[in-house]
Amino acid sequence: MRIDIITVLPELLRSPFEASILKRAIEKGLVEIHFHNLRDYSTNNYKQVDDYQFGGGAGMVMMIEPIDACISKLQLERDYREVIYMTPDGTTLTQTTANEISLMENIIILCGHYKGVDQRVREHVVTREISIGDFVLSGGELAAAVLCDAVIRLIPGVLSNETSALTDSFQDNLLAPPIYTRPAEYKGWKVPDILLSGHTAKIEAWREEQALKRTQELRPDLLKDE
Ligand code: ADE
Repeated sequence: MRIDIITVLPELLRSPFEASILKRAIEKGLVEIHFHNLRDYSTNNYKQVDDYQFGGGAGMVMMIEPIDACISKLQLERDYREVIYMTPDGTTLTQTTANEISLMENIIILCGHYKGVDQRVREHVVTREISIGDFVLSGGELAAAVLCDAVIRLIPGVLSNETSALTDSFQDNLLAPPIYTRPAEYKGWKVPDILLSGHTAKIEAWREEQALKRTQELRPDLLKDE
C-alpha cells in the first residue's frame, strides 16, 4: 500500500511513522508513506496556500490551486483509489472503514488547516471525507496519523501475530474481552480461575461471553442492527 499525505505541516506528521509498528511496516516494505508539503505547490512567490473568505468571515481558507496541482501531479504518476480529506464534518472513522481502506493499493490523504479547504476541492477533487470524532483539532495532521495507524496495522504481515488484529475490539461489532498476565494474584486481586484452567474451549466460551457482556454494558449501540 502507498499513502501520499498532503499537508502544510509535514513535521507534525513524521514521528508516528518513525516508531514501533508503523516504522516496522515501512521497513518491511508493506507500506510506503510520502509527504507532500503544500507550500511547494503554491502558485505565488510568498508560498501562500490560504486566502481570505469570499463574502467575509473569520478564518482563512485553503486555496484550490496548490491542492489541485499536487493531487493532479500524483494522479498522473499512478491511479489512486481514494482522495481522502480529513475534516471534522466528514463520516466518522470506524473499524469497518479502516478494514476497507487497508485493502486499497494507493490513497491520498489531504490534511485541512485554518477554516478548511475551498468547497470546490471537496466537490471536484476529494472522493471521501473522514472525521476521527466530534471534536475539532487544529489541523488534519493528527487525524491523518490516527487513520494511518488504524489502517496500516490491518495490512497482512504488519502485526507479528496475525490473529491479534482479528481479536481487537470492534471486529465483529464487539468490545474485546478482559485480558490478564502474571502475577495470577496481586494485592489479593485474582485473575479469573477459568483463564488458569487450561480448558481451551471453556476459555474461548468465557471470552465470548465477556465480550458480549462488556459490549452490552459499555456500548449497547454496537449491538443494534445496522
Ligand atoms: N480536522 C480537524 N478536526 C478533525 C477531526 N475531528 N477529524 C478529522 N480531521 C479533523
